[in-house]
Amino acid sequence: RSRVAVLISGRGSNMAALIYASRAEDCPYEVAMVTGDKPDADGFEIARAEGVATEALNARELGASYWTRLQQLLEAASIDLVALAGFMRIIPEEFVAKWDGRMVNIHPSLLPRHKGLKSHEACLAAGDKFSGATVHLVSPDVDGGEILGQVEVAVLSNDTPDSLAERVLIAEHQLYPDTVIRYLNRTRDFDWITNKVGELALALPETG
Ligand code: GAR
Repeated sequence: RSRVAVLISGRGSNMAALIYASRAEDCPYEVAMVTGDKPDADGFEIARAEGVATEALNARELGASYWTRLQQLLEAASIDLVALAGFMRIIPEEFVAKWDGRMVNIHPSLLPRHKGLKSHEACLAAGDKFSGATVHLVSPDVDGGEILGQVEVAVLSNDTPDSLAERVLIAEHQLYPDTVIRYLNRTRDFDWITNKVGELALALPETG
């Protein structure tokens, strides 16, 4: 089984979804480590309770050496794939290059729409009828790497950023493990999930 490291900064609900999915007998990955940039991230408690090894690094204290330490940890644990799950830190290009094709992220919008922070606010402000979630390869272009999987979530007329985020999160929890499994199985057959969304996304202008 491929060894996945999940990187978190907070709650860790997508991390939990990745761990739970890994318990299926035919799952091609195991979560070998949970780490992140903030030692007090809530997700660590879940990871520990689930018996997953945790490595709490403090990026603020470590400064530039954070990325070197992280790389050492990942190498020491023979990690095959890095999965960012609510990891709220811009990754230096050198680190991205080291994990080219082996680092994925989940973003709560239909990329390329609404890259960056506050994507739910941006979605509502734009009057989009659909939001959703995207799993993509991490590339030097933030939130701009190759899309591996997407799922749509309809916007409701009375949605607030919080209510929309809550429903998108339900979709994220299914999409993330599904997409990681498909990617690791190298089927690269994401048509079932990307076709419809691909057309929709292409018909809409890209936003910042
Ligand atoms: C998720 O909605 C994730 O898509 C988003 O943060 C949330 C983390 O929740 N990520 C980003 O916005 C990345 N730019 P979680 O900690 O419960 O998984």
